[in-house]
Amino acid sequence: MLKAYRGELLHFLSDPAKGCQEESYQHFDDGLLIIKDGVVEQVGDASELVPTLDPSVEITHYESGLIMPGFIDTHVHYPQTEMIASYGEQLLEWLENYTFPFERQFEDFEHGKKVAEFFLTQLLAAGTTTALVFGTVHKESVEAFFTVAQQKKLRMICGKVLMDQNCPDYLSDTAQTGYDDSKALIEKWHDVDRLQYAITPRFAPTCSAEQLQKAGQLLAENPSVYLHTHLSENKDEIAWVKALFPDNDGYLDVYDQHKLLGRRSVFAHGVHLHDCECERLGETGSAIAFCPSSNLFLGSGLFNLKQAQKYDVNVGYGTDIGAGTTFSMLSTLNEGYKTQQLRADKLSPIQSFYLATLGGAVALDLEGTIGNFTKGAEADFIVLDYHATELMSHRMQHCRNLSEKLFILSMLGDERHVKATHIMGERVFATNTSTSTTTNYKN
Ligand code: GUN
Ligand code: ZN
Repeated sequence: MLKAYRGELLHFLSDPAKGCQEESYQHFDDGLLIIKDGVVEQVGDASELVPTLDPSVEITHYESGLIMPGFIDTHVHYPQTEMIASYGEQLLEWLENYTFPFERQFEDFEHGKKVAEFFLTQLLAAGTTTALVFGTVHKESVEAFFTVAQQKKLRMICGKVLMDQNCPDYLSDTAQTGYDDSKALIEKWHDVDRLQYAITPRFAPTCSAEQLQKAGQLLAENPSVYLHTHLSENKDEIAWVKALFPDNDGYLDVYDQHKLLGRRSVFAHGVHLHDCECERLGETGSAIAFCPSSNLFLGSGLFNLKQAQKYDVNVGYGTDIGAGTTFSMLSTLNEGYKTQQLRADKLSPIQSFYLATLGGAVALDLEGTIGNFTKGAEADFIVLDYHATELMSHRMQHCRNLSEKLFILSMLGDERHVKATHIMGERVFATNTSTSTTTNYKN
């Protein structure tokens, strides 16, 4: 069945950093997105496409909003939703004092379901339609997350945390139980509906060499699953990895030696990488999740986007809730821009919106499936509202082009500026003030 959505429309075709910026996207002042059975059928100018539609096709018109693909969050912890904004520590103390005690509760499936429901509702209200998500060490945490995500028909990737050392006993698995539980979860959930599994060693300090070896084995046995972990986030963490793995040539090499790099491997942070590590990430097709709100909150450092781009590393944005302080991708873009400013690097609004949509899809090896409006892509999209707040509305009056509009959205925008969120073409979230009119085209 066909459906159509009309309004100002933007989506990306390629990475603006790699070629002509103007050719990297399509922007229609009055566009039409045609959807067939939940996937994109066609996109273009409304004046050209509307007359081609059968008169029975419903057209929903978003008159003052920007239609674009849903945001993609390439690194987030759903079990940390209720501990967001915990005061005063940097990474290692923050984990010990706040995170680990909170994660203990996820041995209870019902607790996991309750938090997953809240978490996914927040994500959708913020315009994020796909995320790569940490569970906890408990397999129940992943069962709960996938159960709720499946009910909502979402494309979500999640995995059970592996950690067998340097953590409280109550959060510890073993190399063998971690392998067995992950394998069972892969068999039950991977590629079921829109759900995918990520093998999830927490980070090198909490994984024995035996556990990392088993993670590599599991990845080799299941090449279509993801690998999701943390890398070079904080200087004390990096020194600790050096002490724990003295025979390795740096932090990334610990993962590399255990065969954990590849096209479906996503490393959160990478704030303090050496050039040779970036080069290795690039040549293996691995991705980095850039998490500016978390990096600023925990005082971890300023991610070097230019260095990653130089070595052709795939980069997506991550909120990293609960070290990150917002579910909003618009607010995350704001923090990303300011992070690059502190490095004296420019991050253009066109590049920012690419990273939040198609860039995230490329990082997750899901190009063609989500992240833009190419024919056959799943129709997860959002409508942003220029007039949700008076300040933005006023500022928009003095705006001359798309680039300025996007910059204002990313500097002044947050959840309030997400007017509607659609999953597989169906509207699943809308603000009270959301206005759209539905018509059938008549000749
Ligand atoms: N490194 C290991 N675990 C974590 C975590 O939960 N959050 C962040 N930000 N970094 C980590
Ligand atoms: Zn994290």
